[in-house]
Amino acid sequence: MFLTDAQLEAYDRDGFLILRDLVSPEEVRLVKQGLARACQVQDDRVIREKSSGSARMVYGMHELDGPTGCEATEGLARSTRLLQAARDVLHDEAYLFHIKANLKEAMTGEIWQWHQDFGYWRTDGLSEPRLVTTMLMLDRATELGGCLYFVPGSHKDGTIEAPFDDKTTSVGIWTLSQEQMTDLVKRRGEPVPVAGEPGTVAMFHPDLVHGSGHNMSTHARWQMYFVYNAVSNVMQPVAKPRPSYKANRKNIPLQIRAKESILEPAE
Ligand code: SIN
Ligand code: MN
Repeated sequence: MFLTDAQLEAYDRDGFLILRDLVSPEEVRLVKQGLARACQVQDDRVIREKSSGSARMVYGMHELDGPTGCEATEGLARSTRLLQAARDVLHDEAYLFHIKANLKEAMTGEIWQWHQDFGYWRTDGLSEPRLVTTMLMLDRATELGGCLYFVPGSHKDGTIEAPFDDKTTSVGIWTLSQEQMTDLVKRRGEPVPVAGEPGTVAMFHPDLVHGSGHNMSTHARWQMYFVYNAVSNVMQPVAKPRPSYKANRKNIPLQIRAKESILEPAE
């Protein structure tokens, strides 16, 4: 176990858990270096903003033989801090469903409308929301800078049927309508900002309603999302499977690396 019983209770109650100073500044620096390199790559793994053309999302940083691969990111995904914490929440062995970086450049980084991640992932053939997202702040995340917001306890609503929006940004998502969001906030309370220093981690449930605004600040907001699926949450076949860097179907348990710090070679 990496998480305490009290932390697991808080996760079940709120649908998220914040772990401050979990990743060291030097480790964050290495991951950012890999991400800066990956952003330059011309590949479908890099999705750009509609208006500015700068990188909005980068997939596949754990694929060491892929165009966006980064040893530091892959290594961190197998650290006790991230992997054992994910196993604790899932009560199972875990594997990487995907890793993505979400970038919001100063002044131009765009909105993520209110949504639940499982709204998308169930279309990949997943029947149960037995996944967890472990988000790592690579920059200081502030309200002005478009930090994430969570609606505490909203995961208890299950997966809400929401309309698909592929117009607002370069990434289509099942977005809660104004009526759905108003009703949710009335029942669950106002969204809370997920602000913090680089190295802060937020673990959250696939049915937790979340979103974030435009980056109005003069600082970039880069974040890395490690998404783990429970190995027993087997994916069913679908007509048009997404690429494995977005929806990995190989449920082989991930092993914890020998050295905890990614500053040291893995084995
Ligand atoms: C997401 O929900 O996948 C992204 C939200 C964000 O990075 O602000
Ligand atoms: Mn999301």
